[in-house]
Amino acid sequence: MKDDIHGYIAEINKVEVKTKDDLELFRIRFLGKKGIIPALFAGMKEIEPAQRKDTGLLLNALKNRVQEKIDEAKTILDKTGDKGVEKPDLTMPVGFRETGSLHPLTIVRNEIVRIFERLGFSIAEGPEIEDDWYNFTALNFVPEHPARDMQDTFFIGRDPDIMLRTHTSSVQIRFMEKTKPPIRVILPGRVFRNEAISARAHCIFHQIEGLYVDEDVSFADLKQTLYFFATELFGPETRIRFRPSYFPFTEPSAEMDISCFICGGKGCRVCKNSGWVEILGCGMVDPNVLDNCNIDSSKYTGFAFGLGIERTAMLKYQINDIRLFFENDIRFLKQFAGEY
Ligand code: DAH
Repeated sequence: MKDDIHGYIAEINKVEVKTKDDLELFRIRFLGKKGIIPALFAGMKEIEPAQRKDTGLLLNALKNRVQEKIDEAKTILDKTGDKGVEKPDLTMPVGFRETGSLHPLTIVRNEIVRIFERLGFSIAEGPEIEDDWYNFTALNFVPEHPARDMQDTFFIGRDPDIMLRTHTSSVQIRFMEKTKPPIRVILPGRVFRNEAISARAHCIFHQIEGLYVDEDVSFADLKQTLYFFATELFGPETRIRFRPSYFPFTEPSAEMDISCFICGGKGCRVCKNSGWVEILGCGMVDPNVLDNCNIDSSKYTGFAFGLGIERTAMLKYQINDIRLFFENDIRFLKQFAGEY
């Protein structure tokens, strides 16, 4: 009889009770009047007295196991109805949610800001609507400078004094008016120029301005800072070179190129076979600019630089049309999910 009981226990452990009908059949098979359990109890009379106790315990265990199985199945069937215990359908499509992403311009701006933060630069912002003093005059633009022209600048109303800023250099002036050296600051923001929109140019874009003013700041400091920046952003193999240039607010002025990170300088489509790509404008802050902000130019020197975020992002991600940044086409934006 013990062997029989062991056999039933094994069977109960294996059997699947999926529907209410299954459950009823199972119950009748074991607990019905003519079922297995009553029959086994009846058979106890035949068992030798020496075996009776062990067998009785085992039989009770079987009965409990049957009851347990019935209770388990009931609980599940009560929840799922008479459809039975459903196994999950692993072929069902998952209702996953798409995650949002940062805009590629935000990603690049954050990355640039973080690099300069590591060098001890802080971050500040200024207004998008400016007057002539901050956007031009204090930055040493002579009155007849062509950049003031209607062609470039969005003036607001008829007042030639009020405009959308054409560059973030205006924030240099605002910052130096309020803060005295030592100054180490990064000034990101949106700028506006009255330009025809094309794959290369837009009337709204973003810049990051950098400004460092202290005693004994030299062009070597400028180079080393920008070298660090370039290798952090574009990789340790990156080389830099400076070409003389002109900006009213810096003297001397330069444009900085980086060795093409696509071809490593061998020449490709991105660098137009030159091996170099232009990345930013920079220079030593013109003493007139410091004086305009009441900073003693006989005591302090400084460097400044400004770069376009769109241009940098286009290089970094090899995007060939600036308009993509502003169209909000989800197929474009989606590709940056997961970056930060
Ligand atoms: N403001 C310049 C532009 O929009 C960029 C620039 C050049 C900024 C040289 C600077 C600088 O601070 O030193 O083209």
